[in-house]
Amino acid sequence: MATVRELLEAGIVRLRESGSETARLDAELLLAHALDTDRTTVIAHTDAPIGDGAGERFRALLDRRSAGEPVAYIRGVKEFHGLAFGVDARALIPRPETERLVELVELEVVRRLIGAPRPVGAPKVRVIDVGAGGGAVLVTLAVLLRRRRMDDEVELVASDVSEDALQLARENAVAHAVGDRIRFERADLLPGSETARWDVVAANLPYVRTEAIPSLPVAASFEPRLALDGGPDGLGVIGRLLDQLGAGLAEDGVALLEIGGDQEADVRALVAERLPGWSCEVERDLGGLPRVAIVRRA
Ligand SMILES: C[S@@+](CC[C@H](N)C(=O)[O-])C[C@H]1O[C@@H](n2cnc3c(N)ncnc32)[C@H](O)[C@@H]1O
Repeated sequence: MATVRELLEAGIVRLRESGSETARLDAELLLAHALDTDRTTVIAHTDAPIGDGAGERFRALLDRRSAGEPVAYIRGVKEFHGLAFGVDARALIPRPETERLVELVELEVVRRLIGAPRPVGAPKVRVIDVGAGGGAVLVTLAVLLRRRRMDDEVELVASDVSEDALQLARENAVAHAVGDRIRFERADLLPGSETARWDVVAANLPYVRTEAIPSLPVAASFEPRLALDGGPDGLGVIGRLLDQLGAGLAEDGVALLEIGGDQEADVRALVAERLPGWSCEVERDLGGLPRVAIVRRA
């Protein structure tokens, strides 16, 4: 019977050969998954013997990872902002840099709720996450607002053009006990933008240039193309959303849009062209890269 250490070492070699840059981490996570336990337990018990059944399961998981499938899809779970999200091929795997978008959206909502005295019966702050995918941004926001006991004062809508993604977002909302706090709407960008006036629009829309998609890590080929492809200049979908903001955003509303680390100048130029006279600030992520464009009437 092989031990944890032996299986891990063999798995690491196999994953390194297949090109994984995080072979040890991947192997530990996959062995833990095969054993239905967590990574810490695996690391703490390297001399433990492993039965043939679990060994076989581990090898099958290594096959999938060696073929490029992301560890998150294999495990079916990804941590985002300290919460566990269900993930599968219906939607993009949430990225750590998107946590910056959540922080800025939370700040914006909280400012609106505590910044000025709110009379009893004041309308709710209306927040929409456009291109919600599996729900990482809006479900996390709903959880954070519930912790602050502010969830009664906001209206939260998650929209996506993909029904599959919305279904996953619903499942994640229910798993985090905020399913009744979020309305889900299938729409091409802003639903009903002629009449709806949003206070806060959050969006992590696709922003990869079409021609750059083939050179993304192979793991991205398992994700929906609709979640990645931003058109020839990467800003096609974001540009269409900018076109809707004049009608869709409340007078003092704000849109927070995740962008690629090399898109600051392009997005500033796009806002100047599509929304003349509006302001566009750009916030950086923890890596110091431009990450969130904040767009509002000047
Ligand atoms: C980069 S993924 C982001 C998913 C999620 N917000 C996150 O941060 O993990 C972009 C999402 O935008 C959606 N999308 C693409 N084009 C869209 C459109 N025209 N209208 C609404 N959603 C769109 C995709 O289906 C996908 O779920």
